[in-house]
Amino acid sequence: MDRIILIERDVELRKLLSMNLDVYLGLEVVCLESAQELITYHSKHLDGVALIISNKFNEGENTSKVILDYLHEGEFPIPYILMNSVIVEGVNTISPEKWKDAIREAGRLLKITSKDMAAKNKKLKKFYPILVENLLNIKVEKCACDVYQITKSNEFMIIIEGGEEFPSILIDELHSKGVKHIYVHKEMRLKFINQFSKQVLSILSDDSIKTPERTKVTEIGLSTVSNMLSMGGLDQDTIKLADATVSSMSKVIDSGNTLTDLLKTLQENGDSYLFKHSMMTAAVGVAILSRLDWGNEDQQKTISFIALFHDITLTEDRYAKVSTRRELSELRLPKAEENKINKHAYDAAELIREYPKAPYSAASIILQHHGQLNGMGFATTNNSSLSPLAIVFKIAEEYAEVLLSVEPEFFDKKNILKKFHKKYPKGMFRTVVDVIEDFRN
Ligand SMILES: [Fe+2]
Ligand SMILES: [Fe+2]
Repeated sequence: MDRIILIERDVELRKLLSMNLDVYLGLEVVCLESAQELITYHSKHLDGVALIISNKFNEGENTSKVILDYLHEGEFPIPYILMNSVIVEGVNTISPEKWKDAIREAGRLLKITSKDMAAKNKKLKKFYPILVENLLNIKVEKCACDVYQITKSNEFMIIIEGGEEFPSILIDELHSKGVKHIYVHKEMRLKFINQFSKQVLSILSDDSIKTPERTKVTEIGLSTVSNMLSMGGLDQDTIKLADATVSSMSKVIDSGNTLTDLLKTLQENGDSYLFKHSMMTAAVGVAILSRLDWGNEDQQKTISFIALFHDITLTEDRYAKVSTRRELSELRLPKAEENKINKHAYDAAELIREYPKAPYSAASIILQHHGQLNGMGFATTNNSSLSPLAIVFKIAEEYAEVLLSVEPEFFDKKNILKKFHKKYPKGMFRTVVDVIEDFRN
């Protein structure tokens, strides 16, 4: 995978460069803070860096000098562009005001012409990308169709033939090399993903599997549901798999006695933050409801259902961590991507409205899970018109986030609850925080 590393302190310039490099050259841009970060990144992804663009100085370092010395000493043939208003002798320097020249220069250095881009887009339209991450730990005897990988020269090269065994070793290898996607012909995409869903479904429905294995397969269940939804929408197979995943989530939650037990299981067996935070939120939500006089078992099931679907349209872990407008803008994403995150609560709620036999009120709670009645953006104040169950879910998610982000020995419940009390001083919000205070964990 060819990536461009961009180190640029000026937020506006960084946005302009990363968006345009992505759109015009079709290359992934990784934004880093310093030359030191670049060196660490490069040592992990030796073949993954196609070009480096940086400014001159960053906190405490002469960034361009450190980079040039590093490239020179390691004899790494990676082209470099320096963004600086003063030309530096012997270095490919472009002034920030002429940032468009940097895009052109990047295209020239990487030998990407506009003709290439058009040809790539044409080819891409015939293929469908599948996230490699979602295919880890899955075994299939006969692969349902041909599978491809994109080569450096933008050719689709066949890596698995239809009818062959699906080689999990190859998938592991691609994953560890940082390859994000493999491809199948567009018309084969449902056939391809359905072969996995059947297999995941049969493991999920097996009552004899132990909790660690169940945790792993529930995680695969969640990511497969998300994959199937993005490919084919809410069809029969997706619904079957989603139902099985929700009940498997409940089984994992029931298997531990305390939140601490569950947290341990998740940390040991779960991989993605998206999955762990959904499970933990469900567990905290269920624990809260069991202590509220209006809470009942149906609502506890509803919470697991909502936990599975609330962030289902988000494709990356870091997107699920966003809970304020500021955190969203700090990700410095292209506008389209940022919009998707901003309206993810709305999108997920729309999806659930078509779900047959979805728990009552699931769609409206999903809509409100960031505190906004219309599912758009992130609330900055406590809206007392939110549904009580939505308040439970929102605070459960926030508490789950703290549990997941703090090392157990540093988990200071008293201090955390102090913050929660300050943030949620009144009404139903306060009631929920009081209930959490009573948890023994
Ligand atoms: Fe969310
Ligand atoms: Fe979430």
